[in-house]
Amino acid sequence: MPLHNTEDLNAAPTSDLEAQSHDAQQETYTFPEIATDSKTVYQTIHDQLVLDGNSQQNLATFCTTWIEPEIQQLMIESADKNMIDKDEYPQTAAIEERCVHMLADLWNSPAAASTIGCSTTGSSEAAMLGGLALKWKWRERQRAAGRSIEKPNLIMGPVQVCWHKFCRYFDVEIREVPMDGDRLLLTPEEVIKRCDENTIGVIVTLGVTFTLQFEPVHEISLALDKLQSETGLNIPIHVDGASGAFLAPFAFPDLLWDFRLPRVKSINASGHKFGLAPLGVGWALWREKEDLPKDLIFEVNYLGGNMPTFALNFSRPGGEIICQYYNFLRLGKEGYKAIQNECYAFGRYLAEKIAAFGPFKIIYNGDGGIPGRSESVV
Ligand SMILES: Cc1ncc(COP(=O)(O)O)c(C=O)c1O
Repeated sequence: MPLHNTEDLNAAPTSDLEAQSHDAQQETYTFPEIATDSKTVYQTIHDQLVLDGNSQQNLATFCTTWIEPEIQQLMIESADKNMIDKDEYPQTAAIEERCVHMLADLWNSPAAASTIGCSTTGSSEAAMLGGLALKWKWRERQRAAGRSIEKPNLIMGPVQVCWHKFCRYFDVEIREVPMDGDRLLLTPEEVIKRCDENTIGVIVTLGVTFTLQFEPVHEISLALDKLQSETGLNIPIHVDGASGAFLAPFAFPDLLWDFRLPRVKSINASGHKFGLAPLGVGWALWREKEDLPKDLIFEVNYLGGNMPTFALNFSRPGGEIICQYYNFLRLGKEGYKAIQNECYAFGRYLAEKIAAFGPFKIIYNGDGGIPGRSESVV
């Protein structure tokens, strides 16, 4: 959560009610003494929110900015569903499970029906879970070989901040391949240079946050195969498919980036980006059950039954997951592809027009990565 310091906040009252109940200078951020009529409070908050940006005009986000009325209805109906309480809300739990296996199928898991995965609050939490599994599996390998478990490292390109967080919070050395001149993505050569026996894995991003391009998962996987045959080092790949894991299966079904590559052991994705679900859902999936170490899973037994969970959060809303399921059924591959094709066409159009202005060099023109475009100043 953002850390707010009220000393830094200077917002004036935004409504009559606020003006009446708070002193603008001193009391705007103090907790009210008295209860207030619900309609007035609603109107006050509603009026403040009107001043927010209009999400449908927000071209600078990967996240969902429009939902169908049926999704709004399902969100209202499921406002009280706690995703963790799978005994109390077994239908919601079953829907989550179906989504996991539908995604395993979409991402070509060799054991889609029995593999393991979970919903999360977004890709950031999913990345933490993916990173933890890599660290635990590496420890297993190191212990079995009688080697040290003191200095794990993780190789990555220009990643989203969640991977910096993972490395700092969970004490893993970050081996980041920086952008350099025209090299804006992770390359097999740069990965191989940084591998050693303490490398817990390689993060390959399908849809780099800064340029929107897909990193070459297949090529990196082949380079790691070669490294293994030459040195014995067996280094797994985690694909950060925050955006791309909901794009590639529909827009580029022949691109090899997913569990068809045996070295890809886990994938994260944001349901609330190109999964088109309302905000607050991500996914983490493992190629096969064995790729998620058992001692990361907690058995929660005080909500009725015995529930295995792997999550950083405990309580969290179930509505987003229910709506993700709605999208899967509603759109299918055909629907996702149709929406994405429109978005790609728009990205290409923007790239063309921006290129024509003159002062920009187009880095990515909207083809083969995330719908959109990226450019630098010439
Ligand atoms: C590549 C990548 N990974 C992870 C994230 C974090 O995703 P979330 O916002 O779902 O936590 C993002 C967000 O933009 C991203 O682009």
